[in-house]
Amino acid sequence: RQTKQTYTIGFSQCVESDAWRKTMLEGMKRELTFHPTINFIYRQADGNSPKQVAQVKELLQKKIDLLIISPNEAEPLTPVVEEAYNKGIPVIVVDRKISTPHYTAYVGGDNYEIGKMAGQYALHLLNGKGKIIEITGLPKSSPAIERHKGFTDALKNYPSLQVIHQVNGEWLNQTAKSEFSKIVTQYPDVNLVFAHNDMMAHGVYEVYKNGTQPQPAIMGVDGLPDAGLQFVSGKKITATMLYPTGGEEAIRIALKILNKQTFVKDNLLQTTVIDSTNVRIMQLQAEKTISQQQQIERQQLMLKEQKRIYNNQRTYVYILVTS
Ligand code: FRU
Repeated sequence: RQTKQTYTIGFSQCVESDAWRKTMLEGMKRELTFHPTINFIYRQADGNSPKQVAQVKELLQKKIDLLIISPNEAEPLTPVVEEAYNKGIPVIVVDRKISTPHYTAYVGGDNYEIGKMAGQYALHLLNGKGKIIEITGLPKSSPAIERHKGFTDALKNYPSLQVIHQVNGEWLNQTAKSEFSKIVTQYPDVNLVFAHNDMMAHGVYEVYKNGTQPQPAIMGVDGLPDAGLQFVSGKKITATMLYPTGGEEAIRIALKILNKQTFVKDNLLQTTVIDSTNVRIMQLQAEKTISQQQQIERQQLMLKEQKRIYNNQRTYVYILVTS
């Protein structure tokens, strides 16, 4: 039951330049096509926390009914999220978290679990013995903290398997590539590099490709069809952990909240390891999903056209009857 004719949802995204963020936005827009009366305002902050704070303030001034936010870093964005929440505006946090329980709902992949699965995979791959370099995302963003924690916990009972060096890749391909190239020759005996996302994993792959050292195992996170899955099937990296964007889910939860229906506060999305043994099936599945989505879009266009014809005919009948 809708209490208001139309609602405005504001979405504050931390950065938009990468494929993963684009996939999240597409997911939201796809879900929004089922709710044509919703007004959607989108802002992205180029990975700049102060800019994102200003954008959230601007959204609040625009009198949004609900805020969706993927915060660049937890601490800097926490006060403005609390401000929204205390004003009575429901807040859905997506992917990266904030440092307060004052939000309405959270949706995102289980980053601790991702780190732990990556650690278990590394243990298995290296038979419990070897040297690892970890390339982290922005150290103050929650997925970097949680992926690191899960990874460390998985390895903690195996002293022969050690993380010998850490690099801050800031979630970015270029940063990971340039920072890693500065240290790569110091670690000729590294067995595995775990990067917190596929873009950084690809950066590491590029460093080895352009250098002379043999390439160790490389692992990433995200598993997007046009990135991680291709890197795994092309043998550029060994494995990736699936990290769903939660775009559709965020909009579904937003509608439940706005329509005063019951909803779950913390929604953790499932993950899985993708390596050479299952990458083909993941690719086929992704292709199928894309073709089904195209079918839905075609059906929506047809419905729109039929509605137009119906409305025209109604006008025509009306003219006939009244003339
Ligand atoms: C995209 C991204 C993903 C990563 C996520 C973490 O901007 O860096 O690659 O999984 O953000 O928040």
